[in-house]
Amino acid sequence: MSGSILLEVEGLTVAAHVGGAERRIVDELSFTLGRGEILGLVGESGSGKTVACRALMRLLPETLAIEARRVRFDGAEIGGLAEPDFAKLRGRGMGMIFQNPSSHLDPVMRIGAQIAETVRHSKGLSRREADGEAVELLRQVGIPDPKQRAKAYLHEFSGGMRQRAMIAVALASDPKLLIADEPTTALDVTVQAQILRLLQDLRDRRGLSIIFVTHDLGVVSQLCDGIAVLYAGRLCESGPKREVLLAPRHPYSAGLVACQPASSAGLRRLRTIEGQPPSPGAMPPGCRFHPRCPSAAEDCRSAQPPLAAFGPAHDVACFHPAGLSAAAEIRP
Ligand SMILES: Nc1ncnc2c1ncn2[C@@H]1O[C@H](COP(=O)(O)OP(=O)(O)OP(=O)(O)O)[C@@H](O)[C@H]1O
Ligand SMILES: [Mg+2]
Repeated sequence: MSGSILLEVEGLTVAAHVGGAERRIVDELSFTLGRGEILGLVGESGSGKTVACRALMRLLPETLAIEARRVRFDGAEIGGLAEPDFAKLRGRGMGMIFQNPSSHLDPVMRIGAQIAETVRHSKGLSRREADGEAVELLRQVGIPDPKQRAKAYLHEFSGGMRQRAMIAVALASDPKLLIADEPTTALDVTVQAQILRLLQDLRDRRGLSIIFVTHDLGVVSQLCDGIAVLYAGRLCESGPKREVLLAPRHPYSAGLVACQPASSAGLRRLRTIEGQPPSPGAMPPGCRFHPRCPSAAEDCRSAQPPLAAFGPAHDVACFHPAGLSAAAEIRP
């Protein structure tokens, strides 16, 4: 890891407007991603992980308004780029992979041709050169006999191979950032482990930075360097994986860690966090987590806790974080 920053996001907000009212699906999300770093983005279903990732790629319907105070990518501010320039960036600097390759790859086009098309687009190579590059990419993502396999169609690939093929398509534009939205959730455990190893390997060999969306803290602990925890569209806690997973400060992160099977070994019953997350149309006042929070106090009901530094690169948005004496608690 070179240590320099590839992506810096400050105050990313995505809002839907329903009947004149603004519903913030992602609210003031800020984080940084280093070159060669893998950041795990976690949170319950509906917390805004996919919307946040798609907002970064500007792949959202126009009904959703995206705003940010700052989005710096690879040394340049990209928040204000007009669509044609942003499209170039998306085509060259950023790639995205998804849970379900079948809905993102063309079923009637040979796998190799799909990769070659992207290669030609982004690198301006001849058809012949691009075909060769496609085979090389298939080899790099671990497809056996890539020259033959390049001629296959999607339905001839297994689930794990489809995911590898989608990674090859994403890599075809030689991106610096790969956004992976639950790419292994639909795969069985062995294949999942292989894909995680592949992503780690790509990071090591290409210096790729990855945002990895997952529900699984075990995956974060295995794959990621840093973690960002979202709750109802807001960042609760972010920091180095070891700090956050071993000593979570935000009661929601602590609840997620306690829900993981590994950490409750010996317990009869898996703990869960009581209650349901709020919907974007009915956010509680104050801290969005307070109705479910075991540490909630009066201040949590009236004000949003700001994100406060809890150590180098460790931020927590809570008035009563764990591990602080009452006197030292962060006040607004
Ligand atoms: N196009 C849209 N218009 C309005 N609301 C949307 C739109 N897309 C998503 N939402 C809402 O935004 C919220 C966050 O959705 P999102 O898909 O980002 O959650 P997620 O964290 O990715 O969940 P999961 O873990 O289930 O994938 C949800 O309440 C969802 O209903
Ligand atoms: Mg999602």
